Amino acid sequence: MNILIVGSGGREHSLAWKIKQSPLLKNLYIAPGNGGTATLGTNIDVDADDIPAIIRLVREKEINLVVAGPELPLVLGLADALDREKIPCFGPGSYAAQLEGSKVFSKFLMEKAEVPTAAFKVFEDYHQALDYINKQTYPLVVKADGLAAGKGVIIAQNREEAKEALHDMMVKQVFGKAGEIVVIEEALQGEEASFLAFCDGHDFVLLPSSQDHKRIGENDTGPNTGGMGAYSPAPILPAEKYEETAELVIRPIIQHLEEMGRPFKGILYAGLMFTAEGVKVLEYNVRFGDPECQPLLMRVESDIVEVMMACVEGRLGKTTLDIRQDTSVCVVLAADGYPGKYAKGNVITGIEDAESDPKVKVFQAGTKLENDQILTNGGRVLGVTALGNDLEDAMDRCYKAADKINFADKYMRRDIGQKGLKK
Ligand code: AMP
Ligand code: GLY
Repeated sequence: MNILIVGSGGREHSLAWKIKQSPLLKNLYIAPGNGGTATLGTNIDVDADDIPAIIRLVREKEINLVVAGPELPLVLGLADALDREKIPCFGPGSYAAQLEGSKVFSKFLMEKAEVPTAAFKVFEDYHQALDYINKQTYPLVVKADGLAAGKGVIIAQNREEAKEALHDMMVKQVFGKAGEIVVIEEALQGEEASFLAFCDGHDFVLLPSSQDHKRIGENDTGPNTGGMGAYSPAPILPAEKYEETAELVIRPIIQHLEEMGRPFKGILYAGLMFTAEGVKVLEYNVRFGDPECQPLLMRVESDIVEVMMACVEGRLGKTTLDIRQDTSVCVVLAADGYPGKYAKGNVITGIEDAESDPKVKVFQAGTKLENDQILTNGGRVLGVTALGNDLEDAMDRCYKAADKINFADKYMRRDIGQKGLKK
């Protein structure tokens, strides 16, 4: 098979690494890819959200399966365009992708499907929203409806912060159209975990639990990022709870979309919070998480191409997923300044040395390959990922490997996994 991966982050490097191991693979292409994917397949300079260019590429390279890394192309209709070409896409059509592309869609679907989630209200009118927040107690969560690069959620500690968030979104329109409509919801308290499932429109197969670290600073302080590290499993969601949790947060959504004639094929990602009243869904994503994908794929023993084909062909029911018992940890090495301004073009050394431990793999994210040198080319630069007999062993291997890698302005959190150790 000829396979095209769309995207350019650490998630896509780990997908390329895993797909490369499949005996079903003939040629691997990545659009646009990064310094890491360049060593596994052919990078093609096409943007992940340029659907017409992706379709041209699919025809030219005779692609048999497209794997969507990020959400934007799915929200923009990549799977629908591929469907017209009769090419399978691992990732849902634009209707179901609204689960991630529109918080309003997602909240109403959760309500209809009776999925536990925070109480909410939707506002299209700024003055009505303002009136509402004046009467609420705090903290309170204000969310832009559309995609806002992970910046569209504000946890307002008081009325002033909520007012500012509303003004930014609805009047100043800092997120453009994404903030024309807002969701205002109750602030939940508890520990978070990510729970992902392969879905074929009707059946699903669960991946183990994982936990992301969204804040830039240690002990979960400072601004939100795309994710500074992750590990799997997350002790807050142990294996014996997977089935019952899936019945609450995965099955109702898959069933509902199937009944609507919009079957969900791909990865359904439930962002969960474990509150005093039980588990609640914070959000759905319609793709692998980044960096959760990296530690998760290190634990998958099955041929991922076979599983993906079972999803797109609607025959997942008979499939099982072989998962290693090991724990895995991924620590993101970022460029200092991220998620604000940061430098690019610094030389990275030590990757080979870091990978001298056979249980360590370094996935590249914001990198590019130039004259045989790997250069920094983004905020999240690398995802050092390790397997271990337990969380402590995996953390130890991961940090030892991370310390062998050097580039100017290297920054990492030293506490990835600590929350799990405390459990
Ligand atoms: P979302 O994009 O909806 O997942 O929101 C991003 C992050 O904001 C989540 O991972 C949570 O840390 C936080 N968050 C979102 N909704 C809530 C809520 N209702 N209560 C508390 N925290 C929330
Ligand atoms: N790591 C969180 C996400 O991919 O959305």
